[in-house]
Amino acid sequence: MSTTSSSPKATIKVPFSLPIQRNFSFVGREEQLKQIHEHLSGPIEANPLHGDKSRVVVLHGLGGAGKTQLGAFYSHAHQGEFDAFLWVDGTDQFSTFLSFQEISHRLLDSFSGSGRDLEHSPLISRLHSIKEKVSSPKNTRSATEEALPKLTQAVIDLLQSSSETFTWLLVLDNVDNLTDFPLPTFLPDSKRGKIIITTRLTAVTRFGHPVEVGGIEASSGVKILLNNASLRADTVSGECSGDSACPQSLYWKLTPARPTRRPRSR
Ligand SMILES: Nc1ncnc2c1ncn2[C@@H]1O[C@H](COP(=O)(O)OP(=O)(O)O)[C@@H](O)[C@H]1O
Ligand SMILES: [Mg+2]
Repeated sequence: MSTTSSSPKATIKVPFSLPIQRNFSFVGREEQLKQIHEHLSGPIEANPLHGDKSRVVVLHGLGGAGKTQLGAFYSHAHQGEFDAFLWVDGTDQFSTFLSFQEISHRLLDSFSGSGRDLEHSPLISRLHSIKEKVSSPKNTRSATEEALPKLTQAVIDLLQSSSETFTWLLVLDNVDNLTDFPLPTFLPDSKRGKIIITTRLTAVTRFGHPVEVGGIEASSGVKILLNNASLRADTVSGECSGDSACPQSLYWKLTPARPTRRPRSR
């Protein structure tokens, strides 16, 4: 990605907003949260696959392991530490473009309302003019789709502009298919920006510091099941003392629509 020389100078706060609501029932993952924080706050390291400035953490593990929840929990917990939190649905290229479009609106709202000379920054003007093109009612669908990659590039250029003060955390969520998905082009390179990628693919771990999101300990699993079933621990007290298979056995008790056949234990 090329970096445009002109850049905003003042600090802007983009109102915090994530598509994933705060999970007040979040449990466990202390070790992974520590690792994420250490990697993101550690010294800037060279990463030949992705520039030499950005700090990238890759949360990887099986589907349903809790990667998205972990990325969201980290973001909510560190709200005060960044000027902007940017969430991208990396399921495929189109959803990524749509996420960057939404980000462009939020950035423009915050930058334009800042009352500083940012409005006159060439990067902002460029973003404005592409945004107009994308949202013009006269646009055909294909013209809009053509403009979305340009809008995405304009957002990325803005993020990697050489601002010394504007800090951001970008979460690229559910990058589970690299076919037709040019991941490196969606990773802005900036010493002020940090990135969390969530993925099922081991191949993606080379783009940053891998943090494995594996199975959770039995006690946390029990809490998740109870939370999802809106039950309190005392409802099933005594069920799980010291039993590592307890989450599974509780699952069968708590799942409202049980399958007709229950797998037999060998
Ligand atoms: N640490 C956690 N605390 C509470 N619930 C969790 C936790 N991790 C995962 N979950 C539950 O598991 C579901 C799947 O998690 P998710 O993060 O979407 O998985 P992944 O992104 O790895 O596919 C969530 O909707 C949530 O109900
Ligand atoms: Mg996910």
